[in-house]
Amino acid sequence: MARPLKDLLVDYSNQVDAQLEQLLPQAIGPAEALFAAMRYSVFNGGKRLRPALCFAAANAIGGGNTTENTAKVAAAVEAIHAYSLIHDDLPAMDDDDLRRGKPTCHIQFGEATAILAGDALQSLAFQQLTELSDLPAETRLELVSMLSRYAGCAGMVTGQAIDLAATGQALQLEQLKTMHGYKTGALIEASVLMGAIATGAANQQQLDALKQFASAIGLAFQIQDDILDEESSTEHLGKQQGSDAANNKSTYTSVLGLEQAREQAAELYQQSMSSLELFAERAEPLRQLASFIVNRAY
Ligand code: IPE
Ligand code: IPE
Ligand code: MG
Ligand code: MG
Ligand code: MG
Repeated sequence: MARPLKDLLVDYSNQVDAQLEQLLPQAIGPAEALFAAMRYSVFNGGKRLRPALCFAAANAIGGGNTTENTAKVAAAVEAIHAYSLIHDDLPAMDDDDLRRGKPTCHIQFGEATAILAGDALQSLAFQQLTELSDLPAETRLELVSMLSRYAGCAGMVTGQAIDLAATGQALQLEQLKTMHGYKTGALIEASVLMGAIATGAANQQQLDALKQFASAIGLAFQIQDDILDEESSTEHLGKQQGSDAANNKSTYTSVLGLEQAREQAAELYQQSMSSLELFAERAEPLRQLASFIVNRAY
């Protein structure tokens, strides 16, 4: 029988948190403020959804005792995610003061330290991938290459650049889909594919199916984020509700309205489900996470 989603999330979070605890430097020494800012931004209560997707994708592949590798790729992806949020909140970007119910990194530590904390978390992610000591060097290289593409010019950073360039403009639906695919979908795809690849047991047919799954659910994730920005509350979200409208962002809700945005997310959820058929019951955790992504209230 499938484990309840709540238990799954707690289990996956505990595993990635233990790995992140080892990876992050202690907040001592001459760069104490930098290290404290990194820890603050990683351990301040994120949902750990991307790590959960790494673990769930590894589960879909099977392939023996892979927990340690999975925890390491999950820690790498979460470090990139934490860095992306620190920079996303900066005054030069979304200029947000609240994240996960607490002051954003630059409010707490100052802008310069926040920028550096993001930089250092990014480097740490790649360092972590080089430390997958029981995987062949080619596999480690494939993971480094994949994360660098999905986090950078072929992914998140490009998406953020499009987001900034589009601020104040009304994007067409296709442009919006492209932007969301880059800024958020890419790291979600990376989470799923890297979790699978780090088992050392994934075949091409499985990876193709997982890529389709992740591309659908990654877009659905950002659509739901846009919906919540419109209809939830600051208290529930732990971040400023209405930030997108205040910043004149093009979002799924500003372009399509709430109802159609919901329909798009539901359609993408259905698509994501059909991509998982070949994994049968081993993909149950991925199915539970997909459902959480489109139904979540925070
Ligand atoms: C927020 O991501 C940023 C987006 C890409 C929309 P999450 O909603 O996963 O943030 P945390 O990690 O749970 O705070
Ligand atoms: C951020 O999108 C995506 C990132 C790459 C960080 P948003 O700007 O919508 O994320 P939130 O709503 O601030 O978490
Ligand atoms: Mg943003
Ligand atoms: Mg933002
Ligand atoms: Mg948002």
